[in-house]
Amino acid sequence: MNVHTMTAPADERYEPPRPFAEQANVSDPGIYEEFEDEWPDCWERAAALLDWHREHDRVLDDANAPFYEWFPGGELNAAYNCVDRHIEAGRKTQAALKWEGKRRETRTYTYQDLYGEVNEAAAALRDLGVEEGDVVTIYLPMIPELPITMLACARIGAPHSAVFAGFSADALATRMESADSEYLITCDGYYRRGNAFNQKSKADNALMALDREVTTVVVDRLGPDLDHGLDAGQYDYGELLFAHAGATVDPVPREAGDMLFLMYTSGTTGEPKGITHSTGGYLSYAAWTSRAVLDLEPEDTYWCSADIGWITGHSYTVYGPLALGTTTLLYEGTPDYPDRSRLWEIVERNAVDVFYTAPTAIRAFMKWGEEYPDGHDLSSLRLLGTVGEPINPRAWNWYREHIGGGDCPVVDTWWQTETGGMMVTTLPGVSSMKPGSAGPPLPGIGARVVGEDGSPVDPGETGYLVVDRPWPGMFRSLYGDDERYRDEYWEPFSEGDDWVYFSGDGAKVDEDGYITVLGRVDDVINVSGHRLGTMEIESAIVDIEGVAEAAVVGGDHERDGTAVHAYVSTDHSHEPSEALRERIVASVEEAIGPFARPEAVVFTPELPKTRSGKIMRRLLENIANQEPLGDTSTLRNPEVVGEIEATDDEL
Ligand code: WT7
Repeated sequence: MNVHTMTAPADERYEPPRPFAEQANVSDPGIYEEFEDEWPDCWERAAALLDWHREHDRVLDDANAPFYEWFPGGELNAAYNCVDRHIEAGRKTQAALKWEGKRRETRTYTYQDLYGEVNEAAAALRDLGVEEGDVVTIYLPMIPELPITMLACARIGAPHSAVFAGFSADALATRMESADSEYLITCDGYYRRGNAFNQKSKADNALMALDREVTTVVVDRLGPDLDHGLDAGQYDYGELLFAHAGATVDPVPREAGDMLFLMYTSGTTGEPKGITHSTGGYLSYAAWTSRAVLDLEPEDTYWCSADIGWITGHSYTVYGPLALGTTTLLYEGTPDYPDRSRLWEIVERNAVDVFYTAPTAIRAFMKWGEEYPDGHDLSSLRLLGTVGEPINPRAWNWYREHIGGGDCPVVDTWWQTETGGMMVTTLPGVSSMKPGSAGPPLPGIGARVVGEDGSPVDPGETGYLVVDRPWPGMFRSLYGDDERYRDEYWEPFSEGDDWVYFSGDGAKVDEDGYITVLGRVDDVINVSGHRLGTMEIESAIVDIEGVAEAAVVGGDHERDGTAVHAYVSTDHSHEPSEALRERIVASVEEAIGPFARPEAVVFTPELPKTRSGKIMRRLLENIANQEPLGDTSTLRNPEVVGEIEATDDEL
């Protein structure tokens, strides 16, 4: 936990600007009490934001806790809710998706356009054999076909499993294998800093590693810039659409508890976890939080800069905003290409109303300087949000002042892949904001900070962030592994029938009930908003010939918050070398992807271990961050500490 970066002046706080509060979707502070009084029926308000094919019989069934059923008896279709009903409401010419490509191409899809392409894609997938319940893996960069094929899957009741395009072939293969997925949607390639990058060859390598027949659809992103051949079982997306021009497919009614999608995330073991989300609970919650926290209205142009390959993009680029009938913006590129004004130029040109990004991006903007945002008219912005990691007060203040012009509320939203939507944050039209603190739990959400024994900690003390009541957006389980779901998330803090969800985060709470999230307390690190399991990286390193042992920890990084630091010992027949260092980096990129690349590789004769033989990651983390080491007397080999420190200083 990077506690030292989180100190804010205790008294610093801002009230919601009055003009914002006056127009906000939620402006009555009484909402917190109402949700308490009505719980769980308060969640009717979330369900009411959707159109249901069949109304639910009850709000919550907890008979089989911690496997909760939200809105049992209810039936709905997510694509119908995100597309069709807005057309029926007379908004077919309104923009649904606006896409900003890397080469300054732009594309706008009205709700009518979106309806057309989602239907054609759904018809094509059906013809390829996709049936209700089949898992379709989507391995696409930030192009419109990513949300479109997600919605096409939702329309025919096929859960999608989107794998972030930056993942390696190995990582893709593991995820497809684990999800029993026989369908893949990918593309020829995409542009990276102006160069054509081949995505299909990565996908082909993954397919070779799988011993099952996979039907593949390939989107042509690069046209003549990259030739890609199609093998047997591979189809061109554009040709499929052409063959299904004008086709429509009835949205398949899904039970509220049916899986809408699964999303893999890293945990404390080497095995990634397939987080499964429901159709009714998840979509209601994504819509509700988009309305209450992001303050979205159909008239808004809204931009979440996260990649749709992660949960933030699922909930807050695709499902939440489209369920509300908003215009959602997709950007394919990076913030500094072709120049550092790119994002602000996009905000200005599209008159973006609400902007949601990650602290790592904000720290980069701050480092580049205010001249870039200052050169653009950002007055269309009404609200700013951040997500993914703790935000230090200095970055929070900079964001509010230089992007928000001082008159936009800033919501610091804590949540996770597992929670499906935001859990701890201020309501922008109601609550005062405290830089560096996410805020109180949202109305109806039982987020608490507790000690080892499960009882609440006193204000100012550090504890574990838990949630002591279910919520509609919660994951249903881990794909094919109910036991791990129970053991990892519910066992640590539950007692008897009092089920308590453990988030894996450490946190503090102040006198006003505001929660400051400190970071992971397990072996998961968060690198620029990407969650990585240290075990996954370590196993890629120990696979290399010559490596005896490896320990991976998070080291402080000015921009990314945390960077991957690997401590490695070699076996008796190998010496540390530059060549070995390069092999280590390459192996991590191959097993996971370039975003997991170690920033530092430190060779050490031995790793520090407890007497029982457990590697002391915490100690290495302190070394990486040049923090006091505390008591090292429980170490079996205390002398290695001095040796590692000496090597680390040379970095
Ligand atoms: C982890 C979840 C869901 C958003 C994208 C990441 C950290 C998330 C905050 C915040 C401090 C945060 C936590 C959490 N985190 N938001 N506002 N303040 N930390 O999703 O990959 O599932 O990672 O991100 O450590 O456990 P994820």
